Amino acid sequence: MKIAVIGAGYVGLVTGACISEMGHTVHVIDCDPDKIAAIKAGNPPIYEKGLDELLQRNVGRSLFATSDYDTVRDSDLVFICVGTPCRDDGCADLSMVRAASQSIGKILTGCNHAPVVVVKSTVPPGTTECVVRPLVQDAAGRSDIPCAMNPEFLREGRAIRDFFHPDRIVIGSSDIACFDAVASAYQGIDAPVIRTSVPAAEMIKYVSNAFLATKISFSNEIGNICKRIGIDVYEVMKGVGMDTRISPHFLDAGVGFGGSCFPKDVTALITFADSLGEDPLILKAVIKVNENQAVRMLTLLKSRLPMIRGKKIAVLGLAFKDNTDDVRDSRAIPVIAGLVKEGALVAAFDPVANAAMAKIFPDICYCSSAAEALTGAEACLVMTEWPEFSRLEKEFDLMNSRVVIEGRRILSYRDREGVCW
Ligand SMILES: NC(=O)c1ccc[n+]([C@@H]2O[C@H](COP(=O)([O-])OP(=O)(O)OC[C@H]3O[C@@H](n4cnc5c(N)ncnc54)[C@H](O)[C@@H]3O)[C@@H](O)[C@H]2O)c1
Repeated sequence: MKIAVIGAGYVGLVTGACISEMGHTVHVIDCDPDKIAAIKAGNPPIYEKGLDELLQRNVGRSLFATSDYDTVRDSDLVFICVGTPCRDDGCADLSMVRAASQSIGKILTGCNHAPVVVVKSTVPPGTTECVVRPLVQDAAGRSDIPCAMNPEFLREGRAIRDFFHPDRIVIGSSDIACFDAVASAYQGIDAPVIRTSVPAAEMIKYVSNAFLATKISFSNEIGNICKRIGIDVYEVMKGVGMDTRISPHFLDAGVGFGGSCFPKDVTALITFADSLGEDPLILKAVIKVNENQAVRMLTLLKSRLPMIRGKKIAVLGLAFKDNTDDVRDSRAIPVIAGLVKEGALVAAFDPVANAAMAKIFPDICYCSSAAEALTGAEACLVMTEWPEFSRLEKEFDLMNSRVVIEGRRILSYRDREGVCW
């Protein structure tokens, strides 16, 4: 098939590269010329394990990068993979989805052929049918352009594995031919493919993320209770998660969830529910518990090191999770902001995300190793579950005082304490 992918970010580039690996011809289209130049040169503009090999194998053969929408014209499918960040009022910002829809429509003006326009971006129910379809069709001046919704469930850091081994493929389509066209892009992937209505597909994505976020906030709340009475929440959740009705996943208590999806998607679902006259109490609590965990981390630090002004504090891990350079809504952000506000001297280290965090906090000190960050530090906060942190041991001897607090359970170093364990 000929496939165009609009947006060469974490979702679009991984999707495009994986689909091209499957033998389809893919054009990824992005308005950022630096990203396009990097992809053309075979260099991923993001850190994602295995992506460089995929680009090197396929760029110039079955994978092409461009800023030009022209190739949409002869495509069979066009995936919209642009960002849908959170607006200040909590709604999903659909401006990039709107712009992409109009650009697709314009290029299809006067063209005999019509690709299926597939929304992969996470969008509120109703967006594909009430926003994307009319914008594409109005800009094209025609009413025969089919639209579908195909939400993405990949996890950054494991995105390529997730693409080839998904738990399910969800395709929202009111038309069987359109469903078949989208499903054929995934031919060869061994996973159940389910067909739903378009708004149900949109809702499945929000509800999946909201449920996972709820499990995390629930575990954190239980962790906070357990810590008060000296019970290890990880022992508790291990026993709880062995119940097959519950599953062991997403029960890791800690400093809370971050990233470009859970916080914004739960917030967008809350705002969407509010607009319908519903009061989503559980979802609101999920966000509140999550925000409190970062505050708890700082409170715990201050209880162990009452005076932090002018003290060197090592922050290990800046990405919102391991194996990515993505710092969007990382829990390290409110923690570093709190430390800076209190006058601490932050020495930060992340294996791949120093540069991304430097755009948010240009004035803190970035270190090239954990040992450098820990040298002379009065305290250490671990914010990301990078596996390499589990091997840190003698590096803690470099600290001035051994206050070591984990927001993720990753250290094997014994003399440490967790935010809620
Ligand atoms: N990142 C994830 O783990 C993940 C997982 C599942 C779903 N999603 C959803 O997928 C969507 C994309 O997320 P992402 O993390 O890949 O975003 P991203 O910000 O990494 O990438 C979006 C890309 O779109 C480009 N873009 C924006 N407007 C454009 C336009 N009009 N024309 C061409 N290019 C344009 C940007 O330059 C950027 O490179 C979001 O809706 C997100 O919620 C993300």
